[in-house]
Amino acid sequence: MEAGNRLKGKVAIVSGGASGIGAETARVFAAQGAAVVACDVNTALGEAVVAEIKAAGGEAVYRTLDVTAEEQWAALVKEAEAAHGRLDILTNIAGISGRDPTQNIQAGLTAGGLLEDQTLEKWNRIMEVNATGTFLGTKAVIGPMRRAGGGSVINISSICGIVGSFANVAYHASKGAVRIFSKAAAIQHAPDLIRVNSIHPGFVDTPMTQPGHANPEVAKQRMDATPLGRFGTPNDIAMGCLYLASDDAAWVTGSELVIDGGMTAN
Ligand SMILES: NC(=O)c1ccc[n+]([C@@H]2O[C@H](COP(=O)([O-])OP(=O)(O)OC[C@H]3O[C@@H](n4cnc5c(N)ncnc54)[C@H](O)[C@@H]3O)[C@@H](O)[C@H]2O)c1
Repeated sequence: MEAGNRLKGKVAIVSGGASGIGAETARVFAAQGAAVVACDVNTALGEAVVAEIKAAGGEAVYRTLDVTAEEQWAALVKEAEAAHGRLDILTNIAGISGRDPTQNIQAGLTAGGLLEDQTLEKWNRIMEVNATGTFLGTKAVIGPMRRAGGGSVINISSICGIVGSFANVAYHASKGAVRIFSKAAAIQHAPDLIRVNSIHPGFVDTPMTQPGHANPEVAKQRMDATPLGRFGTPNDIAMGCLYLASDDAAWVTGSELVIDGGMTAN
């Protein structure tokens, strides 16, 4: 994307920054002048994304972080604040669908089994990464953002956090949790001028959805359900993150930004 200064002087942490929506958000934030701390569990990909940002003239570092580990969040946030003197933006983007990672083509409409086939272990894992990870990240940045005089937390939910479907019930539940968690956090931290919003992507082409979209039946059903007639790109979602991260959204908190090609309008 073209360089700009919508985030000039701001410091941003981007979880899930190694791939898909998170990688693109890290690129866009850096191109708009932010100092970016990209974190993920996929160290090789994360380092490659940061090398690309730096080669384009942006400011970024990569740190390996498992979003389910509270002590790792504490260390990351401490380091970021010490390095830059402030912390302004957190995007909680890391997430999992619950699909078996060895499954290259999704067999049916749900990645990860229907309700009756869902194991407690898988349910807990999806909730832990998607919902608990978002809670831990948000909790970790409250102190530094308060010290900075405010901030913006952007939590990636999903259309699955708004409507039900044949998709994995644990995924739906985790994204519903992210949606309402964001509103409660927004209320509790409005006096600190810390804004907390959720974004609800529809079907976006990323490594998470590629096994589903490789199945023509799944792809057709999803495309038919998307009025604008194409799947989203990571950039479609990153631009929503940019808006919520920037001062253009200074009066926006507790809101849910749906970016889904019209799917949930139906
Ligand atoms: N792609 C879509 O259609 C779509 C739709 C709605 C919501 N989302 C959400 O968007 C977010 C990004 O997904 P994506 O499509 O870019 O997928 P992706 O698989 O390309 O990226 C997800 C990233 O999260 C990282 N991650 C997974 N577990 C982690 C952990 N414990 N700690 C740190 N990092 C971890 C992965 O390594 C990966 O880099 C997810 O929260 C996803 O649920 C995606």
